[in-house]
Amino acid sequence: MTASTKQRKEPRLLDVSYETLDAAVQELKDGGLVAFPTETVYGLGADATNSDAVAKIFETKSRPTFNPLIVHVKDAGGAALLAEFNPLAQKLSQKFWPGPLTMVLKRLDASPLSLLVSAGLDTIAIRVPSHPIAQALLENVGVPLAAPSANKSGTVSSTAGMHVASQFRDGIDIIIDGGSCEMGIESTIIDLSGDSATILRHGAITVEEIEAEIGPIKDSNDGDIKAPGMMKSHYAPSIPLRMNVMPEDRLKGEAYLTFGPDAPKKAALTLSKTGDLREAAANLFTMIRALDQPGIRGIAVMPIPGTGIGRAINDRLMRASAPRDEGESQ
Ligand code: TXA
Ligand code: MG
Repeated sequence: MTASTKQRKEPRLLDVSYETLDAAVQELKDGGLVAFPTETVYGLGADATNSDAVAKIFETKSRPTFNPLIVHVKDAGGAALLAEFNPLAQKLSQKFWPGPLTMVLKRLDASPLSLLVSAGLDTIAIRVPSHPIAQALLENVGVPLAAPSANKSGTVSSTAGMHVASQFRDGIDIIIDGGSCEMGIESTIIDLSGDSATILRHGAITVEEIEAEIGPIKDSNDGDIKAPGMMKSHYAPSIPLRMNVMPEDRLKGEAYLTFGPDAPKKAALTLSKTGDLREAAANLFTMIRALDQPGIRGIAVMPIPGTGIGRAINDRLMRASAPRDEGESQ
């Protein structure tokens, strides 16, 4: 079968089994695309050393080629083969890997990664996922996997296999359905490629947790330094979304997405009744998707505290509610 006929096939949504893992490993080795669960969101994976396979990710997601991909590796040893693993990176990896921390590091000249992965930058974003299926794939494929979030560029990330299947009619070979993602929000990205540490994207690991390890860090949201893909409009449902909406400010026909014990009873959905920010993060994308329906005028979201993982939640809501005319992101 030629690559082009292969690409027109509908993805196979497969339950987790040894057969599924074998088939997925084979697809990845053959240069195919496999969507798989991680502890954060579903990733759309390809062999990061195979430029044709990496190009397929950009094409399938309609992702701008200036926006680099995260590379997933099995462990810190795997990361050290690709990038300059400086003392700060070593310290953070010991604490947070495997887990939802992505480190941007200087790429090694000897790195076998496709140049497309880093979109012309001299750095690479790397993470070690903790999800057992992601780990099993990495272990058995034996190469690093480039894997952005498994959604069309600029739209809501996928936290269940069905979310991936509903967005992609073709381009992906296999979707491994591993159920819901535990964290439900993407990894935290920290730039360690220079002299100091800078947060590029708030995510599942909080600034407070990182600062407890390495002291004060800079925040790219406070200055000009940006991840290339951090567009204003991103994570956007097809209907409008408004954040920080108090109960009395709801508009007729809007679905109300609430948070905390003070939420009015007549809400469409509640991110967390008890006001638990981790629970809210895990529910965020799933609930936005559930409310993104024809006939609903828009989604109004109750204020969410900006502490801990609340910062990542508010970052996603800000981008989901931003004007959509600025082009798309990852
Ligand atoms: O939790 C996650 O990180 C998920 C799972 C699948 O691992 N992946 C994910 O990938 O969120 P993606 O492609 O949706 O977001 C990656 C972000 C983009 O904003 C991209 O611009 C940034 O990482 N990035 C990638 N390489 C970079 C680099 N070398 N320097 C700065 N930012 C980079
Ligand atoms: Mg993404």
